[in-house]
Amino acid sequence: MSESPNKKIILITGCSSGFGMLCAVRLATQGHHVYATMRNLDKQSELLSELKIRDTTAEILELDVTVNETIKKAMHHIASKHGHLDILINNAGYGIGGAFEDLTDEDIRSQMETNFFGVLNVTREAIPLMRQRRQGKIINISSVAGFSASPFFSAYNCSKFALEAFSESLRYELQLFGIDVLLVQPGTYKTKIFYENRKYAKNFDNPESPYFPMSQHLKNKVSDYVESSKKNPEDVAELVSNLIVANKSKFRNIPDIETRIMAIMRKILPFSLYSWIIKTVTFKGLNNY
Ligand SMILES: NC(=O)c1ccc[n+]([C@@H]2O[C@H](COP(=O)([O-])OP(=O)(O)OC[C@H]3O[C@@H](n4cnc5c(N)ncnc54)[C@H](OP(=O)(O)O)[C@@H]3O)[C@@H](O)[C@H]2O)c1
Repeated sequence: MSESPNKKIILITGCSSGFGMLCAVRLATQGHHVYATMRNLDKQSELLSELKIRDTTAEILELDVTVNETIKKAMHHIASKHGHLDILINNAGYGIGGAFEDLTDEDIRSQMETNFFGVLNVTREAIPLMRQRRQGKIINISSVAGFSASPFFSAYNCSKFALEAFSESLRYELQLFGIDVLLVQPGTYKTKIFYENRKYAKNFDNPESPYFPMSQHLKNKVSDYVESSKKNPEDVAELVSNLIVANKSKFRNIPDIETRIMAIMRKILPFSLYSWIIKTVTFKGLNNY
């Protein structure tokens, strides 16, 4: 169990695609022992081929953040092999779009189960593996949506705002045990979250919904915006890998300039002006608005 102090034992959730997969590959390439977890092992081929291209390896384990047995099994595996965990990256998540009235209770609860309670489930099992050595880092992948709410994303916004509050509170508690809690707040990046993994409210496409014209307008707007995004998802993986080796890090970390500007605006502008900007940008081009 005596391993180089530079080689970290890392668990990442949601590694079948996107940021999770990119983090797994980058960190494995840097020589860390990466546990790349995913809820559906049938989806590991993309990760495996990326690892192969870079001539590196990671251990792939099944872990669904909403299923406690899979979390306990993965943690037990790590505990029996290493006795501890250095880094937890809570990345798994998805986003559901739709006006509050078009969302069902189940739509909202499922969003919270994955993006919020899922993080709690995994973190609860990971802390004991860090606390005993009085060291470790928990990196929670939040979002611009964790500090700035927008129309038609209330469920996703709630999940990320809740994640931010949880992380802030947990940070104080775990500092007592030498464990750091950090947030990463990416803006919009072209990943599967906006394509095959995107989800809509139950009544999003229902022409009877009073929100139908706005929903359709927004659907096209988000698609165009994502398509035109030049941001590189690798920047998120690079930021995460920098946070892992840093001796001292800021609590909130933003990978892209656009979101950094939004964070500053959110801080300094009166809410009346900030919300006018959000509203104008969102609904610009919508007839009769
Ligand atoms: N892309 C962006 O613009 C953006 C911006 C800000 C924040 N984020 C956040 O970044 C994180 C990663 O998203 P991404 O952009 O990389 O999207 P992605 O490519 O869709 O990846 C999401 C990952 O989460 C996994 N996942 C979903 N539910 C899960 C569950 N119950 N248990 C375990 N894994 C689960 C997915 O697995 P399956 O393949 O099985 O569905 C997939 O591996 C999310 O938390 C998201 O909110 C993304």
